[in-house]
Amino acid sequence: MNSMDGRDLVRSVKVVGSARAAQGLRTVRSAWRRRRTDAVALPPRGAERARVPGQVHGVEPGPGGGLIRFARSELQITVDVNGAVFWGWDGAGPEPSYALAGHCPEPDPRAVLEPDKDGGWRVVAERVTVVVSRHGAIEVCTPGGVTLRREMPPRWWEPVGGGMARWMQRSEVAADARFFGLGGRASGPRLRDGTYRLWNTDPGRAFAPGDDPLYITMPVQLVVADAATHLVFHDTTWDGTVTLQEGEEGAGSGHDRAGRCEVRVDGGPLRCWVMVGTPARVLRAWALLTGAPALPPAWALGHQHARWGFGSVQEVRRIVVGYRERELPLDAVHLDIDHYDAHQVFTVDREHFPNLPALAEELRRDGIRLVSIIDPAVKEQPGNAVYDSGTAVDAFVRDASENVVRGVVWPGQSVFPDFTHARVRKWWGGLYEERLAQGFAGFWHDMNEPTSFNAFGESTLPRSARHSLEGVGGDHREAHNVYALCMAGAAYEGLRELSPQVRPFLFSRSGWAGMQRYGGAWSGDVATGWPGLRASLSLVMGLGLCGVPYSGPDVGGFDGSPSPELFLRWFQLAAYLPLFRTHACLRAGRREPWEFGAEVLEHARVALVERRRLLPYFMTLAHLARRTGAPYVRPVWWGAPEDRTLRDCEDVFLLGDSLLVAPVLDPGADRRAVLLPRGRWYDTETERGYEGPGQVLVDTPLSRIPVLARAGAVIPVRGADGGVELEVWAPARGRTGGGLVVPDAGDGWNEPEIERYVARWEGRRVMVRREGEDGAGVPPYPVRIRGLG
Ligand code: NOJ
Repeated sequence: MNSMDGRDLVRSVKVVGSARAAQGLRTVRSAWRRRRTDAVALPPRGAERARVPGQVHGVEPGPGGGLIRFARSELQITVDVNGAVFWGWDGAGPEPSYALAGHCPEPDPRAVLEPDKDGGWRVVAERVTVVVSRHGAIEVCTPGGVTLRREMPPRWWEPVGGGMARWMQRSEVAADARFFGLGGRASGPRLRDGTYRLWNTDPGRAFAPGDDPLYITMPVQLVVADAATHLVFHDTTWDGTVTLQEGEEGAGSGHDRAGRCEVRVDGGPLRCWVMVGTPARVLRAWALLTGAPALPPAWALGHQHARWGFGSVQEVRRIVVGYRERELPLDAVHLDIDHYDAHQVFTVDREHFPNLPALAEELRRDGIRLVSIIDPAVKEQPGNAVYDSGTAVDAFVRDASENVVRGVVWPGQSVFPDFTHARVRKWWGGLYEERLAQGFAGFWHDMNEPTSFNAFGESTLPRSARHSLEGVGGDHREAHNVYALCMAGAAYEGLRELSPQVRPFLFSRSGWAGMQRYGGAWSGDVATGWPGLRASLSLVMGLGLCGVPYSGPDVGGFDGSPSPELFLRWFQLAAYLPLFRTHACLRAGRREPWEFGAEVLEHARVALVERRRLLPYFMTLAHLARRTGAPYVRPVWWGAPEDRTLRDCEDVFLLGDSLLVAPVLDPGADRRAVLLPRGRWYDTETERGYEGPGQVLVDTPLSRIPVLARAGAVIPVRGADGGVELEVWAPARGRTGGGLVVPDAGDGWNEPEIERYVARWEGRRVMVRREGEDGAGVPPYPVRIRGLG
């Protein structure tokens, strides 16, 4: 429950009597104010003039490509050393960009601009050829010459009286191509025909498939086709839409119909990045460009329990004791806004949470960390330290008349830091000192689309609100989508300074391209119900394909009361997702695993224990994500994108290279079909082997969801003594296998080496050796071979 209508607001924030009425009134006033401000500061665009590039009339070769001049625009094309292609129209360069991790990579000196047929030009690079027609259509081709994407000449509409042009870019992809990405979408991961908006949005109620957009939108598409995979990123932060239509093949008679994509944006530069190759290569290039994913600490890869409305330290203790007494692993407890003083960020309700540092210390002794929610809105209240210090550095967003913009969020009338200003980020980052002193080890960014409750219309800041945008100046239309990204940057940098020895851990409800360099994400308020369960998997997979590998849902859904079966199936799924967290709304039913009866408790325990056993594997996946950009949770076609049946499979996923997880997403299912990629796969429970590719039926009693291991996989797991063991699944006869291990190096900045293991048959035994070692290469861990039966 977040942005909301007046009724919900009143119900949720525990305000009473006249205070309640006042709150509702403020919400309505804030909405009116927003409309009025926009009407004055953003006059209608008036008449517009359309423009296309026109005919080519000259080129200027440059490093990695060059400049192509058209009658009414010019196009810069550069291939960088990582094989990524950049192009920008109308003088747009790759920088500045909120998505990029630092400076743009160097151009590839081997890529050159040369004439093509019919008066066009092309840039030929090692992994990609880009062909530009004389009218400004751009074709991205494989080195073998197969077209992956054809962008038509763009169109601009410029206000006659001057001002920002809006633009439209149509493109075609192969008839067999499938679209993924665009941030966190509830009805994916495969994006069906439809229009997807690019505007981070709090839907105002718990969401399910069909609700769009949600909290994280990104102009990032991953397109998978027989010929290759490509990622395309239209680097503009402005509001817009992406309309997708999958293609269709002629099936012997008739022509193929290409897949179509139309990007329409209200402003900002028309510039684009494209990466081509295998999914792994493409995600690697994306991470090189936008930043290596932050590495979560080991405890953040365990089980985390949140709740809006613990209400007191006694309740927190009761929950923790509940886990301990039942011997259920627990690694973190998250405190929601009810632990704040009057819902004001960076404060504590000392009556109900009298000594947080002592609680944190007590929990830490049991291996449990405390995580704090952080909302960006600051109560407008002189005398409140956060408000006063923010005012002193002129931190809050203003409107065109220089008045501070007000909205209504949990603490009541509030103001909003302008995170697009370096000075404001610095101030905000420093505020985490108070949280660290309270003993918090991690941070959960919420309401940062940003959300301001409005009784009608959009629940965010007025579009005309002014932002620094790093000194260039602009309004909320441009800053909105990067608000949460910049907030994450502020927190990350602040925490690094405050606690240099420890890697910051944060995850955020909203964000944009590049957010992974600061932390992860979570699904937001997913609706309790079977469709919500499905949506939560869609979000994790979609975000992973946009470069955000660490995310997960509210187990059990945010609102309402899940049935025991639904809760259990959600729990079993989330045990294999990077962020494994139970959470629910103030008024929702309980989410502790023991609240659903003895049977659910037993099965939830199995899931928790298995998650803990897999911790070294999760740690390894986290390190690999950091080094390669590959998400932990991967679609089943990750290693075989040319397999069309796999491409359409959305209810099975790979966890790293070694495991395949088939969650139960429907009620009453006692078996389910599992699509397997090529190779031999073992059911990890029964050790029965199956041969892929193909579909198998696997039992799904309440006690488990099917998890299969790839033959030959070497998986680091936690042994009974807490140390690492290697679980090795026998390779098929005559074949070898292997796996990687990256040991946990603590919460600091050490980057341990990747250990590589090979498994092979030697006579009648499966042997495991460490690669690259002198001598025998005996693994330094106990080894257990499975799948021999
Ligand atoms: C909205 C968030 O999505 C939810 O997780 C949280 O519990 C509430 N805000 C209250 O902070």
